[in-house]
Amino acid sequence: MKARKICMLGTGLIGTFYTMTLHGLRGRDRVYSIYSRSQERADKFASEWGIPNTFTDLAKAINDPETDTVVIGLPNDQHLEAVRLCAEAGKAVLCTKPLGRTGDEALEMLRIVEKAGVFHGYLEDLCYTPKTLKSLKAVQNGALGRILWARSREAHPGPHSDWFWNKNMAGGGAVVDLGCHCIEIARNFIGKEVKPLEVMCWAATQVKPIDAEDSAIALVKYANGAIGQFEVSWNYRGGMDLRDEVAGTEGTIRLDHFLRTGFEMFTNVGLGGYVAEKAESETGWMFPVGDEAHELGYPHMFADMFDCIENGATPMESFYDGYIVNAIIDACYKSVKTKQWEPVELKEWRGSNDITEHSVYVDYDADHYLIKEEILPDERKKVILKRKSDGEILQIVTG
Ligand SMILES: NC(=O)c1ccc[n+]([C@@H]2O[C@H](COP(=O)([O-])OP(=O)(O)OC[C@H]3O[C@@H](n4cnc5c(N)ncnc54)[C@H](O)[C@@H]3O)[C@@H](O)[C@H]2O)c1
Repeated sequence: MKARKICMLGTGLIGTFYTMTLHGLRGRDRVYSIYSRSQERADKFASEWGIPNTFTDLAKAINDPETDTVVIGLPNDQHLEAVRLCAEAGKAVLCTKPLGRTGDEALEMLRIVEKAGVFHGYLEDLCYTPKTLKSLKAVQNGALGRILWARSREAHPGPHSDWFWNKNMAGGGAVVDLGCHCIEIARNFIGKEVKPLEVMCWAATQVKPIDAEDSAIALVKYANGAIGQFEVSWNYRGGMDLRDEVAGTEGTIRLDHFLRTGFEMFTNVGLGGYVAEKAESETGWMFPVGDEAHELGYPHMFADMFDCIENGATPMESFYDGYIVNAIIDACYKSVKTKQWEPVELKEWRGSNDITEHSVYVDYDADHYLIKEEILPDERKKVILKRKSDGEILQIVTG
């Protein structure tokens, strides 16, 4: 197994989390060079994390022959140019979320890497949290039956850098920033081969003086009748709320990734520093997170990426997935404007084209369909049925 020699583009929040993950727990893959716009910041970052090389020129950083893998942790408007340079350099490229600002931008990136034949991974960490991976396995094994609804929520008090609030640089507001996570989480639970058909989205600028939306709720309808639902906000007070719920015909999953992980602390004087990402207070009841990188899925995400590079395989999250997410986001923005369901326009679709929804008719006996069975508080049992001959609803009570 060859250790990866990584070129990290960006020394901001995500560059820090990624480097912390890669250099944590004595991993063999190392950040070997760092790109930042300022030499001072690059030097400080390099000395903090023991990184041998620094660059302030993007193309030189990417073309440095000492590194084999490039990780893009730059503002959204710079992903495309960085991807183009990586493809020209023939380097494996891992790009943070969202892949592009629009579906067209993401599709261009997908085409560039596929044409160049370089490895590409979409760094969608929240699909790799240990809880999510275990839940996905259970869902794939049929533990929840047929998936009907996948809800994902990400809300916090707003991003930490100026460029996120600039609609042109970011490509939008909370939908593109946070909705991208939620859409892909739901897609994983519903099944990536199932085609997303149409979207209904409400978005508004409720609090912040910006051109983009700071809150949104959307429904994404899939070809098998399943619904993906997301709720995102940059106005949520009290920390970072990351929750998912999945409902199927045979079961339910509820996940809380950040605000209530089972770790609660009261302090009158503070923890003496950082509490958790987007935590808003330092005293009182605190919700710290044991190992933040782990809870957010970073170690499993990089393990999948590097294993796949080594084995010539496709990672769970590739640029293709990033493109589908961006195409769904495009439909969200259209729906916000028209206040209508808008189709998801997929110029590239590699999944199933089956659009048959599951039948709701389950036989109870030759003459009836089953609606439901329930045991009542007085121990009687009710069976609610629909008569096949005339559609009449009736119940049988026993006990
Ligand atoms: N969970 C996640 O996967 C996650 C979390 C946070 C951010 N991100 C993504 O990572 C990327 C970077 O976000 P971040 O939170 O690290 O941002 P940040 O503002 O903290 O850092 C941005 C980095 O890009 C550099 N940069 C280069 N050109 C720049 C420019 N013109 N303006 C501003 N910065 C410039 C900055 O110097 C800095 O190193 C974004 O695409 C964002 O969506 C992903």
